[in-house]
Amino acid sequence: MERNVVLRHAGEFARSVHGGEASGHDWPHIERVVRMTRKLCASERADPFVCELAALLHDVADEKLNPSKEAGMAKVGQWLRTESVEPSVQSHVLDIISTMSFGSGPASPMRTLEGMVVRDADRLDAIGAIAIARTFVYAGWKGHPIYDPALPPRTEMTKEQYRLGRTTAINHFHEKLLKLKGLLHTEAARAIAEERHRFMEIYLEQFHKEWNGEV
Ligand code: ADP
Ligand code: NI
Repeated sequence: MERNVVLRHAGEFARSVHGGEASGHDWPHIERVVRMTRKLCASERADPFVCELAALLHDVADEKLNPSKEAGMAKVGQWLRTESVEPSVQSHVLDIISTMSFGSGPASPMRTLEGMVVRDADRLDAIGAIAIARTFVYAGWKGHPIYDPALPPRTEMTKEQYRLGRTTAINHFHEKLLKLKGLLHTEAARAIAEERHRFMEIYLEQFHKEWNGEV
């Protein structure tokens, strides 16, 4: 099938999966990741078709949207076959999606430039002003509180505390968001991350000042 037709179908497929999602994997997240992917792909001279296809499909297999990660990957694999995408592109896209997430290990290796580009684009959406909004939406969805000064940071929590979901939206900044800047692969993404990261630091300073009644 023509590449532009495959991309259009991938957009329709992803939109049908992500429309109405409230866990942070809503369709506008996918649109932002695709837009950022195009930008990073151009700076890094990666393959635009593989990048855009992987960006569109990157969260379709997410565990939160499927009975299991394996079931999610099978769904994407099935879709790629139905679209008659070249076998080498199919395996490349599946490889990128299966190793994308922070959950698969923050520093897990990404084998190809295209994978690095899409992962960086996804990570950039978890840094900055929109990322702050996504974090609070996610915490609300899970029933976590905004903040609890009595809770230790994740690194000092017992497994039992973590299993019981005893985390907060503010804790998540330390568990993940503030670490992402140091885990980016591409120079282009690192440059964009600077201002977004600084904004989150300023936000947290202000948050704690207000919490402590200092302002
Ligand atoms: P993605 O791979 O697209 O970043 P995630 O499932 O890791 O997807 O997260 C989706 C959004 O929800 C991200 O913005 C992330 O920072 C946020 N998020 C994930 N886990 C938590 C959590 N425990 N508390 C608050 N926000 C979270
Ligand atoms: Ni994502």
